[in-house]
Amino acid sequence: MKSVLLSSAAALFALASTANAQPTAEVLHYWTSGGEAKAVQALKKDFEAKGGKWIDAPVAGGGGDAQAAVLRARVLSGDPPAAVQIKGVNIRDWAEAGALADLSAVANKYHWDDILPKQLQDIVKYEGHYVAVPVNVHRVDWIWANPKVLAKVDAKVPTTWEEFNQVAEKLKAAGIIPLAHGGQPWQDGTVFETVVLGIGGPDFYKKAFVDLDPEALNSDTMVKVFDEMRKIRGYVDPDFPGRDWNLATAMVMRGEAAMQIMGDWAKGEFLAAGKVPGKDFICASTPSDKGYILNSDSFAMFKVKGDDLVQGQQLLASLILGEKFQETFNLLKGSVPARMGMDQSKFDSCAVKSMNDMKETAKNGSLVGSMAHEIVQSGAVRGAILDVVTEHFNSDMSSKEAAKKLAENVALAQ
Ligand code: GAL
Repeated sequence: MKSVLLSSAAALFALASTANAQPTAEVLHYWTSGGEAKAVQALKKDFEAKGGKWIDAPVAGGGGDAQAAVLRARVLSGDPPAAVQIKGVNIRDWAEAGALADLSAVANKYHWDDILPKQLQDIVKYEGHYVAVPVNVHRVDWIWANPKVLAKVDAKVPTTWEEFNQVAEKLKAAGIIPLAHGGQPWQDGTVFETVVLGIGGPDFYKKAFVDLDPEALNSDTMVKVFDEMRKIRGYVDPDFPGRDWNLATAMVMRGEAAMQIMGDWAKGEFLAAGKVPGKDFICASTPSDKGYILNSDSFAMFKVKGDDLVQGQQLLASLILGEKFQETFNLLKGSVPARMGMDQSKFDSCAVKSMNDMKETAKNGSLVGSMAHEIVQSGAVRGAILDVVTEHFNSDMSSKEAAKKLAENVALAQ
C-alpha cells in the first residue's frame, strides 16, 4: 500500500514540476551587429511574452565561424545549448551525429510542410524529419551602393563585371574607395561566390561548389573568376584586412566608399541607422545572368534534458514561423520570410525584389545555395575554398595557380 502511495506521490510531484516548469532556452547565436541585434531582440521579446525564459548566448563574429568553435566545444563537453542558430549542411552534419531533437510534433501542429518552400525544407529536414526551423532567407549576391558617391563620377550601379571595373576605375581616379570590404575569409568567400555565379553562371557554380568537380574548380572559367578577384583586390582600401562586415557597410553609409558586395544583412544595418532604400542606399544584384545565391538562418534544437528546456525548445520552434514574427524579424534583419504566402506590403523594394527573384530563379534553376555561408558546403571543404581565395586575395598568386590550388585543396579536404 505504502509503495503505491509513494509512487503516486512521485507521479504527482513530477506532474506538478512539469506543469510549473518555465519554458527555458539558452540560445547560441552570432547576431551582435546593429541590425542583427535588433532582430534577435524581437525573437527574445516574443519568446518572453509567451512566458519563456531566454538565456542569451551571443558569440560575436560575423559569418559564424567563431560561434561554430564554441558550439563544438559545448557539445563535446556534453553541455549543448538548447537552441542554436546554424545553417545549411551544418544542420545535416549535427543531425547525422545524433545531436538534434526531432521537431516533428511542432512541425505537424503548425503545418510546416504547407508553409515552407522545398528549398528550405531540404535544409532543415533530416531523413524526412524536421530537426531545425528556418527563420529567413538572406540573399548573398547584392551590391549596396551610395548613390551620392556614384553621382560624383556620374556612374550608375554596374550591371556587368566589366561595368563594375569601369565604375571602380573612375571612382579610384577620383580618389574615392570603390569597394568597402572586410578582409576575413568568409567575406572574401562572399565576394568570390558572387563572381563565380556572375562569370561562370549557375550550372558552373553548382559544378564547382556542389559537385566539387575538379574540372570546374581548375578551369579557364575559374581562372577568369580569379582574374576578376585580382581586379577587385585593387578596389579596396589599405585598411581592409580584418575589418568587420558591418564596419564596411558603415563606410558606404557615410559616403567613404561607393559600394559593398554583401548579403542583405547589410540592409539591416542601413535600416537600423534610419537610412532609406532608394534614397540613402541602392540595392542591386551583383552582375549575373539572373542568378540568386540563397542563404538561410535556422534554429536547431539540440538534445537536452529537463522539462523546462524541452518546453523552451518547443515554444521557440512554435513561434519562429508565425506570420507576425516572420514579418517583424525579417523587416529588422534585412532578410525575407522563410514562410511562403506572406503579405509583402510592409517590405521595401529590395526585399520584394529578393522574394520575386527567389521565386523566378527557383523555377528556372538559377537559384543556388551559398558556399561561403554554409548552405552547400561547410567544414573542411568550405575551409579549403576560403583558404585559397583569401591567400590569392592577399598575395600576388596568379589566377592559374589559384585555380590549380583550389582543385587540389578541395580534393584533399573531402
Ligand atoms: C551570415 C548569417 C547572417 C548574418 C551574416 C553576418 O552567415 O546567415 O544572418 O548574420 O552571417 O554575420
